[in-house]
Amino acid sequence: MARERILSGMRPTGRLHIGHLSVIENWVRLQEEHECYYFIADWHALTTAYDDPSELQENIRSMLVDWLSAGLNPERSTIFVQSHVKEHAELHLLFSMITPLSWLERVPTYKDQVQQLGQEGKDISTYGFLGYPLLQAADILIYRASAVPVGEDQLPHLEFCREVARRFNHLYKVPLFPEPKALLSRVALLPGIDGRKMSKSYRNDIPLGATPEEVREKVRLMITDPTRIHKSDPGHPEVCVVHTYHEIYNREEIEETRASCRAGAIGCVACKRRLADRVNEVLEPLRERRQRLLQRPELLQDILHAGAARAREVAGSTIAEVRAAMGV
Ligand code: TRP
Ligand code: SF4
Repeated sequence: MARERILSGMRPTGRLHIGHLSVIENWVRLQEEHECYYFIADWHALTTAYDDPSELQENIRSMLVDWLSAGLNPERSTIFVQSHVKEHAELHLLFSMITPLSWLERVPTYKDQVQQLGQEGKDISTYGFLGYPLLQAADILIYRASAVPVGEDQLPHLEFCREVARRFNHLYKVPLFPEPKALLSRVALLPGIDGRKMSKSYRNDIPLGATPEEVREKVRLMITDPTRIHKSDPGHPEVCVVHTYHEIYNREEIEETRASCRAGAIGCVACKRRLADRVNEVLEPLRERRQRLLQRPELLQDILHAGAARAREVAGSTIAEVRAAMGV
């Protein structure tokens, strides 16, 4: 396979949890063979969190530590913070000249989110939030990336990005922007420990940086089959959160776990203990890397600094061509 240019980003909304691990593992695989750009979308975070930026810097740092501990390698990938590369903002501005308002208003998630967050008391009927997909298009197109690993929820944004690329190329009669494709990967959907969607704000998550004790405690609190009162009661693994986790973290023993649950041969306490051990095994190498990183705060700064410098080179040459095309 030719070395493709890959780009993706995440909003720094707080510590990552084990549900994010498969996403980052996919990024890690991609960096082995491709030219990858991974960035922390701090401007995008401000589109909804504009009224409380107090945690933004800490969230950026913690996201970087999470990424690196999960195996992103700054020698292979260009890792940076969006706001350190001002060219994204210039391209966003120039794109805003050619983007019909109606395209932004009909992005499927837009009206829903304004309404939903409005009900929660948050006003995001702002210019910045409307322009969210356009800034995202600038993020992608400024590197002329050919593929963008994202979740399904981002497909409308990718489609929008391709429309912007087409419109630019058409208006200025230059094939400047390739149309990026989405790279959908099968990501394991992990529920939170209470069975709802895993989220930091529900406090039902297992943070990537959890200590072994925290993992054991979170697993201990997981919802199991409510009809099982005694250890000998036959269980129903299909309704049990612990079982869902065994399917991902303990595949080798899944048949046996299921069978002993159904037969009432294993108690939930023991079943959870096995799971916690497996999760801890997976997180152990991340913990070691995290410890080493936290001892060297200047290293984190250096990584972001070097990443932004590399990103700026590519972004700068694109923006020069854009300016020329648009006569500025
Ligand atoms: N909107 C993305 C999300 O919420 C984050 C993002 C911003 C992004 N810019 C991007 C993802 C560019 C991929 C490419 O997940
Ligand atoms: Fe869930 Fe395991 Fe208890 Fe069965 S034994 S209900 S799979 S925790």
